[in-house]
Amino acid sequence: MTNQEPNQREGKLRDLLILVPYVKPHQAKLWSAVALMIVSSLVSIALPMFMREAVDTHIMAHDLRGLVSLIAIAFALIIVMTVANILRGRLMAKMGQDSIRALRDDLFAYMQKLPVQFFDKIPVGKLITRLTSDVDALRDLVGNAIVAMVIDSLRLVGFLVLMFWLDWRLTVITLLISPILVYAMTFLTSRIRKAEDQVREQASLVNANLQESISGIKVIQGFQAEEHFHEQFQVENHSLLQAGMKAIATYAFFWPTIDLAWILSIAAIFLFGGQWVLDGTTTPGILVAFIAYTDQFFGPLRSLSQAYRIIQRALAGAVRIKRIMTTETEVNKNLKPMPKIIGRVEFQNVTFGYDPGEIVLHDISFTAEPGQTVALVGHTGAGKTSIINLLCRFYDPIEGRIAVDGLNIQEHDLESYRRQIGLVLQEPFLFSGTLRDNIRFGAPQATDEQIWDALKTVGLAETFIKNRITLDTILTERGANFSTGQRQLLSFARALISDPRILILDEATAHVDTLTEQKVQQALAKLLAGRTSFVIAHRLSTIRNADLIIVISDGRILESGTHEQLLTLKGEYWQLCNSQNIVQIS
Ligand code: UTP
Ligand code: MG
Repeated sequence: MTNQEPNQREGKLRDLLILVPYVKPHQAKLWSAVALMIVSSLVSIALPMFMREAVDTHIMAHDLRGLVSLIAIAFALIIVMTVANILRGRLMAKMGQDSIRALRDDLFAYMQKLPVQFFDKIPVGKLITRLTSDVDALRDLVGNAIVAMVIDSLRLVGFLVLMFWLDWRLTVITLLISPILVYAMTFLTSRIRKAEDQVREQASLVNANLQESISGIKVIQGFQAEEHFHEQFQVENHSLLQAGMKAIATYAFFWPTIDLAWILSIAAIFLFGGQWVLDGTTTPGILVAFIAYTDQFFGPLRSLSQAYRIIQRALAGAVRIKRIMTTETEVNKNLKPMPKIIGRVEFQNVTFGYDPGEIVLHDISFTAEPGQTVALVGHTGAGKTSIINLLCRFYDPIEGRIAVDGLNIQEHDLESYRRQIGLVLQEPFLFSGTLRDNIRFGAPQATDEQIWDALKTVGLAETFIKNRITLDTILTERGANFSTGQRQLLSFARALISDPRILILDEATAHVDTLTEQKVQQALAKLLAGRTSFVIAHRLSTIRNADLIIVISDGRILESGTHEQLLTLKGEYWQLCNSQNIVQIS
């Protein structure tokens, strides 16, 4: 689906339409910039005519006063042009930044809502690089290239018309040189573009590599795998260097080739134009004006070829951004909201695989009555978390149906459904911010009293008061200033506050020691009370009291029932309990 990165050249102009809503609010700036550009272009088109006038009318006639006043007018025009250019530059830059900021905002909001699947296959570092450079490409387009393109084309036409009017023979000579230019503009620029694509691609690999090794730094250092990762990084980094060198090598041809074309044109104009001045078929003023025009003629050509590159990049970026923004999220499906649920959960013949070719869950059926606690038990890789992933609708089943209170969860709005689910994972997600914000994450309106109550319930309040931790204490990234067990209990508190109808604990008690475990068991009892709960725990003592224990093996339900029922079966569960000395305890 979305994991295939589109080719750089794939974009169509139509894809740029995604920019319209972002540029629209800044129309006034856009049109003012266009007006300013027209002014400065008219001046730049007119200036060589002043040179002709100066040479032919005033210099040849020894008319110094006329020359001075002509120069004064030209000077005034140049000032107008300069001011217009400065204003235009500022307006466009402001417009580019403003509209792209809005786009970046929207993009972030979209990404947050993308189906989990989307992130399964693209490395985060790559995604981030892509998005930042894609957004930058669009900013360059909006902030510069769009207007420049239009105006440069107009200037080119203006120059050509005046050049033909002045002397068509000289114009033909200038145009004869243009194949060199066309070569530089097309062949060289396309090679440069390819090389730049490679640089970007390679840079995103380097970033992905960096991101991975930074987030895994503890493990890497612990296993002394620094060398290995360094070597890997060196390889990527070297490829980046090579890609960069290739781009620079191609680039080194570009400007000299353009300069060569320019010098050849000037030489040819002097050679032929000089003769034509001597035989009286043209004037010295026209020759001077012509040289100025030839010079100016190259300016828009250059910036057009630059604009062309910006547009290509922006197109590629637009395609990728559009892909994200049109990836089907539940938000744009317009489903009816999930009503307030009681919490009866039914799996009906559910079959699922992360990859459709590789089935992970086979024909799973069970029912959890409201308020019941359901334990999922099984060896690692059996499919426990996958069942939870389906219940949370991170993924959808391939076959079968999941119903809550008899309503198919796939047919109801995801947000209103998820709001009623609490999810506590083995690695709790804590973010940099205050303790308060971290706890009332799922229920922003919670008061400080409620938060302290929850902290008391999970048994953290005492420790926090003792250590002078307040709700305003700032958590460093991922809550590194708390112990793993404390983080776990924090996520319990968070679940308590958001008061979900369905509660899911996936290995959520794995990190708490046996002493705290008693506290945790009490906290857990309060947490589970009155909610339909799904508990996954390798430590079977945690789940003995569950109303329903489902034993999963290789994606299939092997046995299900209460602790006692399953023990009498003497099957898989009995074996599991034996291995953990649970039977004796019971
Ligand atoms: P689960 O993640 O459901 O297993 O993976 P589990 O029962 O919870 O295991 P533990 O106890 O946490 O270790 C079930 C199967 O799904 C595959 C895994 O390879 C496993 O065989 N899987 C899981 C994927 O293919 N993709 C995923 O993103 C996750
Ligand atoms: Mg799991």
